[in-house]
Amino acid sequence: MRLDFGPHRRGYRLAIVGMAFAAVLVIAGVATWLFQAHSQASGIGGPFTLIDGLGQQVTDRSFRGRYMLVYFGFTFCPDACPTTLNEVAEALDQLGPKADRVQPIFITLDPDRDTPAVIKQYVGNFSPKLIGLTGTPEQIAAVTKEYRVYRAIHRTGPGPKDYTVDHSSVLYLMGPDGRFIAPIPSESPEALATDIAKYLS
Ligand code: NI
Repeated sequence: MRLDFGPHRRGYRLAIVGMAFAAVLVIAGVATWLFQAHSQASGIGGPFTLIDGLGQQVTDRSFRGRYMLVYFGFTFCPDACPTTLNEVAEALDQLGPKADRVQPIFITLDPDRDTPAVIKQYVGNFSPKLIGLTGTPEQIAAVTKEYRVYRAIHRTGPGPKDYTVDHSSVLYLMGPDGRFIAPIPSESPEALATDIAKYLS
């Protein structure tokens, strides 16, 4: 058998080496992307310091040992917030005793108008279980960043209070250790209750 190291054969081998190298690069790239995607998903949430409806300071640690169902919005919201909070209230009723392990929390994106008294009265309209949190603009900016919430202020008139707040509408389920578990889609109270129950261990 004759080994052929001619130019044609060498080119072929180089091509195979090249393809193998390219495959390694692709695998490394995919692995890096998966790692980053995972890190980002598990990077949602984190420590916060806010103010409750009685004007008392609360932190994420105040809720350790219970699941937190966190939603961001504002009390003047005409659509997404009342709809979602109604669904949360109904879902918790449907969950029965299991709901005792879940603390629903509404965090305002509009701390200027949503004072502790305003937010307390607002969440009380939906459920006695719901806790409303506000804070200084800096505290709200910090928690918004940690939860990767989209927020954009739109002016609706010349007055200082003539504005509305566009925002992402996501229910975040956080575990008893405070870590992010999953976003819970809010399609109906029934679906919400089923989804929450699935994650309660
Ligand atoms: Ni809203």
